[in-house]
Amino acid sequence: MTIGLALIGAGLFMQDAHLPGIEASPNIELKAVYSRSLKSASAIATELPLSRYADDAGEGLQQLLERPDIQAVIIALPITKQAHYIRAALAAGKHVLSEKPTAKDVAEAVDLIQWYKAEIAPKGITWAVAENWRYLDTVRYGREQLDRLGKIRQFRTQVYFDCRPGKFKHWRYIALPWRQKPDHQGGIILDIGVHHIAATRYLLGSDRITRVNASVTAFQDALSPADTVDAIFQTESGAQGTFQFSACSSLEQDSGYTVVGANGDIRAKEEVVEVHVDGKEEVKELPLVSMAVVSEVKAWAEALGKGAVPLEQRPEEALADLELIELILKSGAQNGVSQVPQHQKVDV
Ligand SMILES: *[C@@H]1O[C@H](CO)[C@@H](O)[C@H](O)[C@H]1NC(C)=O
Repeated sequence: MTIGLALIGAGLFMQDAHLPGIEASPNIELKAVYSRSLKSASAIATELPLSRYADDAGEGLQQLLERPDIQAVIIALPITKQAHYIRAALAAGKHVLSEKPTAKDVAEAVDLIQWYKAEIAPKGITWAVAENWRYLDTVRYGREQLDRLGKIRQFRTQVYFDCRPGKFKHWRYIALPWRQKPDHQGGIILDIGVHHIAATRYLLGSDRITRVNASVTAFQDALSPADTVDAIFQTESGAQGTFQFSACSSLEQDSGYTVVGANGDIRAKEEVVEVHVDGKEEVKELPLVSMAVVSEVKAWAEALGKGAVPLEQRPEEALADLELIELILKSGAQNGVSQVPQHQKVDV
């Protein structure tokens, strides 16, 4: 049976990334879109015969959520706005896929998850959180090779880009007002950093981060409140690693994720994975397709057909990512004092 779908939010990322994912999912049919203004609700997917809802039109969110032919929604809105819409859609009995992070902070995420588990999940309504970095082919391939490394000892995440117009390939997303003047904690550290925490955690397999020390700073005025993180992590198994993230660095070529074990290492970059085991090198090239959002939306739609949420999209998984960002920011604010995560154990 086809699942009727609506979009909540009509931004650039919906247009560029989610729409191709929806198109590639045969069991969902896009029927409607809601945005705060009719102008933006009208500007997305102009070639499709969608019903368009807005606060400044005759019919708004309420009317959209009352439609029985719509069973699911994708929510992609500015970070601090999302929780309200997630609650409204779930309460109306719609399945939800909402963009990362789970919520604006750990307290709000825990609250939402508890409410969802107690009130919504028992009715068979699902909530998934989109984190496309867990769908990057290089990250997934890297994780598949993990067992070959033996015991994990070290890891290193390096993410560098120069976040200025003309310098950054994804500048058009950064140019959006809610990103230029963020009302969410950490600004770009949360918004973009959380993707790289997701990849870092994914590449650690079943190991878990148990301690965080970090320095956080701003080298440019362009991005408030900060643009650069250097963090040190420890894991449950005794491994240790670093997380370097800078949105104003010339080192973009060096970006990637490295995991080192007793038998060798895995180095995953944007489009290539190098595996060095027992002195031999293997190189696997994996072109980047639509920032992996097509794979992510397809996985969501397929699971939805079975009434399930993919493991990679559980809200608890996204909470674990969010928590590490929040602790990095806290440690940074306290001159590197270590922080102990409470939400890294994601039950299977
Ligand atoms: C992390 O912070 C704690 C203090 O909270 C300190 O004792 C420890 O040495 C720090 N570790 C590193 C690696 O900086």
